[in-house]
Amino acid sequence: EIRAIKETDQEPVISFLRKFFFKDEPLNVAVKLIEFKDSTCVELEEFSIKSIKDGISLMAITNSGNIIGVCLNGKIDQNEPEEEEEECPNPKFSKILKLLAYAGKEGSKIIAEKYPDVEKIMFAKILSVDGAWRGKGIAKELMDRTRHIGREQGYGLMRVDCTSYFSARAIARLGFECVYELKYADYKENGQAVFVPEHPHNALTIYVQRISCTSP
Ligand code: ACO
Repeated sequence: EIRAIKETDQEPVISFLRKFFFKDEPLNVAVKLIEFKDSTCVELEEFSIKSIKDGISLMAITNSGNIIGVCLNGKIDQNEPEEEEEECPNPKFSKILKLLAYAGKEGSKIIAEKYPDVEKIMFAKILSVDGAWRGKGIAKELMDRTRHIGREQGYGLMRVDCTSYFSARAIARLGFECVYELKYADYKENGQAVFVPEHPHNALTIYVQRISCTSP
């Protein structure tokens, strides 16, 4: 079953993400975000909670009520200036935030040029599926349902910034268009690649799809 995440689901959702996303998202792995079995990253927790508060996130649950997938969504208003990221005290997560902000801004420029009539954008920010349930279409279903909510609520466009090859593959299967790609090998500081994620995760890609008609 797929259902909306309510504020009361915050704790189980965060503990699900701690078990999976925090440890297995390709950039988190590349920077060794979680060094010890039971440690966490409070900054990533805060980042996740912020999305839950927007009230447009979804989770997949088993018949017995266990969470097996999560899609945390937020809203972008193209007419409003983008929020400036605050300085992050965690050096590892800060590196990731910096990349996301850099690629995000590049992506936003392209999207604004391509879709100047769109105001509200549905933004899938965090996608995570239980390791034992992967490859069964759960991510695709979560994003398809997110697109459905976006359509119902009058969002003009849906956007997904994919740090993983598999999330990119899932969203491409739903017919989304890739508007931006940054190869990790090309994102350098002092001549060195900042991230060397495991194969096949070789690029950050931004995918979009128009989901409802909007008038200028
Ligand atoms: N090996 C090969 N192919 C795979 C694998 C794998 N291990 N896992 C998924 N795929 C393929 C699927 O076959 C499918 O492609 P296809 O339609 O061409 O067959 C596609 O990738 C994804 O299909 P789903 O089954 O819908 O995806 P899944 O439910 O397995 O979830 C996800 C994908 C969320 C990326 C999962 O692998 C995961 O949680 N990874 C760790 C966290 C992560 O990287 N999240 C995404 C970061 S980007 C973001 O958050 C927006």
